[in-house]
Amino acid sequence: MSTEWQVIDALEVPALAALFADDPGRVARYSVDVAGLHFDWSKTHLTADALAAFEALAKAQGLAAKREALFAGAPVNVTEGRAAEHGAERGEGSEEAVARAAQLHARMRALIEAIEAGALGPVRHILHIGIGGSALGPDLLVDALGRDDARYEVAIVSNIDGCALEEAFARFDPEATLVVVASKTFTTTETLLNATSALQWLREGGVGDPHGRVIALTAAPDRAVEWGVDETRVLPFAESVGGRYSLWSSIGFPAALALGWETFEELLDGAGEMDRHFQLAAFHENAPVLAAFADLFYTQVKRCATRAIFAYDERLRLLPSYLQQLEMESNGKGVTASGDRVTRPTAPITWGGVGTDAQHAVFQLLHQGTHLIPVEFVAVAEPGDALDEDHHRQLLLNCFAQGAALMQGRANPAEPARDYPGNRPSATILIDVLEPRTLGALIAFYEQRVFVNAVMLGINPFDQFGVELGKEMAKAAGAGGLDFDPSTTDLIARAFAPSLGDA
Ligand code: F6P
Repeated sequence: MSTEWQVIDALEVPALAALFADDPGRVARYSVDVAGLHFDWSKTHLTADALAAFEALAKAQGLAAKREALFAGAPVNVTEGRAAEHGAERGEGSEEAVARAAQLHARMRALIEAIEAGALGPVRHILHIGIGGSALGPDLLVDALGRDDARYEVAIVSNIDGCALEEAFARFDPEATLVVVASKTFTTTETLLNATSALQWLREGGVGDPHGRVIALTAAPDRAVEWGVDETRVLPFAESVGGRYSLWSSIGFPAALALGWETFEELLDGAGEMDRHFQLAAFHENAPVLAAFADLFYTQVKRCATRAIFAYDERLRLLPSYLQQLEMESNGKGVTASGDRVTRPTAPITWGGVGTDAQHAVFQLLHQGTHLIPVEFVAVAEPGDALDEDHHRQLLLNCFAQGAALMQGRANPAEPARDYPGNRPSATILIDVLEPRTLGALIAFYEQRVFVNAVMLGINPFDQFGVELGKEMAKAAGAGGLDFDPSTTDLIARAFAPSLGDA
């Protein structure tokens, strides 16, 4: 074990109450303001010693050089031999990658303008088909920013379960629906099957040329053309943009169409601002870096297996599921970038929900359970609703009170069931106003934080081989070409028994 890790493992961890008592300047010391976001890590156990220890590890792991390599377009995704150039989509990257992204954005914008001008006929509905990174990002954007003034009705369908598609079919008029097929690889079973069923629905709904209503978003344009989409309606993006990092590319098309190009550009600008902060700010005042240090304190020193994110804003209700893919698919790894087995825990299980709902469902465990779970609150100062201001006031007060209650606790030795141990950590992100720019900055913050965690642990956050085995086995099972274990064989036999449903 390196000496840097030895120092980290030996960190003294005073109680949160003591940290506040000893340092009147703690809030300011452990807060950062950037791009309309206020980050407060003062209710975590970070200390000056912890920061110094993590900074030493960052130096040993070459964080600054690796960050530079990321933005320079070096092949940081070592197992797949390619760059990770999502930054270029928002103007931060090599000259060549930024120019290529701008060109592809221009193509996307031109198609949006053509649709707005009626080139594809009447459009009221957008049926976006994709899964994982090809769905979660657009879904988050449209849900967060399109509540009041989306120009089209959007349905995002990901699951191969036909119920999901049927629900969208029931809402939409096929003659006024644009089908958007989003798949980086254009090989994903769920997406291609759903897209084929959507074509059939268009046909049965009286659309003469169903393929003419399809737009493809992909890094494999040839496959989309082969599948039947006209080249003029294929919006490519670079292979070096990973699926879970792709909402900035043409994968963001439904959001750009429904919310308007300006909105999409502001989103990119906000992300670019966070990227620049990440590249330029010293580690001790760098939001993604400090957040990663706090993450590592809990995963490595306190061995917390999970961390929870609660969005205290209905508009951000999809943020926890978006972050699950970003964090768990990126850093849920068992080997280092050079292929050695890791010797320390990697990504914590990321979970969460929406406040205040979650308070009445899962917070019991957070306050009194036996697991220590670092919590992250994400709230917005300006209300998203036009109701009596008491709604938003109560929402925010609940959010802040939960953080205080977790930290302060309340001793009750006489009644153990009513004893709150306290000293439970939380971080808070307070967004001034939820708008495209701040949402872009928030998402980019999470991306860069994942990157820092990966560098510190020496893993590659940009591949995802873990998802392949199950996919292969499902395909082989469909083709009848695999001998399964007795349990799986029995389940398959039961599910597909001819008598199923007769009872
Ligand atoms: O199975 C995981 C995954 O490869 C994700 O990484 C990706 O976001 C998703 O599937 C969808 O892939 P595609 O965009 O190629 O259809």
